[in-house]
Amino acid sequence: MAKITTAQLLKMKQKGEKITALTAYDASFAKLFADAGVEVILIGDSLGMVLQGHSDTLPVTTAEIAYHTRCVRAGAPLAFVIADMPFMSYATVEQAMHNATPLMQAGANMVKLEGGDFLLPTIKALTERGIPVCGHLGLTPQSVHVFGGFKVQGRDEQAANLMVQQAIALQDAGAQLLVVECIPSALAERISKALVIPVIGIGAGKDTDGQILVMHDLLGISSGYIPKFSKNFLQETGEIKQAIGKYIQDVKQGQFPGPEHSF
Ligand code: KIV
Ligand code: NA
Repeated sequence: MAKITTAQLLKMKQKGEKITALTAYDASFAKLFADAGVEVILIGDSLGMVLQGHSDTLPVTTAEIAYHTRCVRAGAPLAFVIADMPFMSYATVEQAMHNATPLMQAGANMVKLEGGDFLLPTIKALTERGIPVCGHLGLTPQSVHVFGGFKVQGRDEQAANLMVQQAIALQDAGAQLLVVECIPSALAERISKALVIPVIGIGAGKDTDGQILVMHDLLGISSGYIPKFSKNFLQETGEIKQAIGKYIQDVKQGQFPGPEHSF
């Protein structure tokens, strides 16, 4: 398999081929996922919850994401690898440039930042300097304390319209990919159609350009609460490789997520 690039992901959207993505934090799982055909691997700051056992993602550091990015890249040399920028590591444009650097040097192809309008100058600055950016809208877990819990976002019409506008603004600023998390399926579909860049959903229904799950949720081994939008693929397959294969197949065929995993 050839190296996966932003150009290829864009082509997949244009052809209507669903993009499959998973989080991974180490070389062994990254290799397993990439060999199975997962196009995008995210070193999510979800590692603060699923690896470190915290109740949110706020304690995660840039050095920790860089470490896990090196591990993932070693296992999956050809995958498209996105590294999350942790809480407050991109509060200013200068901080973002400073902290994105070690993530790219660790092997990331792109960095992911949570938020809307305040990020526009940051996205422009990073992209101009050679660092591709993935946006993240909806339930952005770094803002869980502002939201007052892990809650579905964009439910009313005003919030939905604002999110569409923000998605377009992120794209216009230079973002080359967008994650939308825990939003109504109809809104996710609207955003996916409004944007040229691929939109990857989690808890956002089946009508996005691709899907992502936290690997521990897919395997049913998350220590805490397993969200409604996740599915334990290991339960029905009984074997990790088959579980990954089934996830890929179900996403590609538009079978996952079903209405029971959507809002
Ligand atoms: O940290 C993470 O795993 C994420 C995904 C859920 C999109 O940001
Ligand atoms: Na994240």
